[in-house]
Amino acid sequence: MSYRNDPYDPKQVALLDPAALAEAVADASKAFTAAADPDALTALRPAHLGDRSPLSLARREIGALPPAAKSDAGKRVNEARRAIETAYAERAEVLEREQAERVLVEERVDVTLPYDRRPRGARHPLSALLESISDLFVGMGYEVAEGPEVDLEWVDVDALNIPAGGSPGTFHIAPQRSGLVLRPHTSTVQTRAMLSRTPPIHVIAPGRVYRTGEVDATHSPVFHQVEGLVVDRGSTMAHLRGTLDHVARALFGPEAKTRWRPHHFPFTGPSATIDVWFPEHRDGPRWVEWGGCGMVDPRVLRACGVDPDVYSGFAFGVGIDRTLMVRHGISDIRHLVEGDVRFSRALGAGA
Ligand code: DAH
Repeated sequence: MSYRNDPYDPKQVALLDPAALAEAVADASKAFTAAADPDALTALRPAHLGDRSPLSLARREIGALPPAAKSDAGKRVNEARRAIETAYAERAEVLEREQAERVLVEERVDVTLPYDRRPRGARHPLSALLESISDLFVGMGYEVAEGPEVDLEWVDVDALNIPAGGSPGTFHIAPQRSGLVLRPHTSTVQTRAMLSRTPPIHVIAPGRVYRTGEVDATHSPVFHQVEGLVVDRGSTMAHLRGTLDHVARALFGPEAKTRWRPHHFPFTGPSATIDVWFPEHRDGPRWVEWGGCGMVDPRVLRACGVDPDVYSGFAFGVGIDRTLMVRHGISDIRHLVEGDVRFSRALGAGA
């Protein structure tokens, strides 16, 4: 700076000039007022109060002054600094108060706003029931088998000794001669289980089945069955009855009773329809049809590669949707397929 070597003249030390100091104070106050929040204000501090601020630079010049001028200049600089510090502190207080008020307003929790957290789902009660039935059979040494929902007509019709054309109500897959159907019962898995295993066979097959027809409170085109098949030397109708009575008691309580009525199924003989006694049915105590069963027809065994002179078999198929509906007093089967999470939450855990 050129004036450093000049003979002393306080007016020439421009930074110490009262007008320059007043200007530094005015600049600082103006800048502080413009700061919109505490962070912006803090960012202004170095420029107005830091080592390289006009005031600090002015203070450095004091040393160059003759002793007589020093104290005056020192006072002026100190006053200016205090003025800037005060302006800073006052602005800081205002901004902090404003920010605190803003936070109170902006971060207020309005408990009346709509609830937007994703509600947790639940296992579907049918899945839970199918699983507990599977557990029950696995405990008796059965294996859980699966089959496709779209299956060959041969597997569904011919091998099961069902007259040509299949069971009424079967969905056929286009084109007409595709030879494929949507399985109308889980009995198709009997065929597949025998074709892919050698006796002794103990399998159950829980799964979805499809049938045409009107949809109403008790009929859905999609429903569920659990199929069972045992093929072994010397298996009898008594084994079948004992097995199903055990399952009924496990599912419906120790007092559960079953009733068998003679029936006809092409794939079994003798065959029966099984009813379960529901003392707590919502329309009063009654027998409810649960499924069909019987001794596997020798023609079915033969079609599936099992020698009927060595082995005999029993089989059953029970309806699961109805089991669930009766157990829980559900009046409309459509609740089972609508996918309403409230329904699953209410019944899924305990089914
Ligand atoms: N498939 C039969 C139905 O859907 C139920 C059934 C009857 C299954 C007798 C069987 C059986 O395994 O042996 O109506």
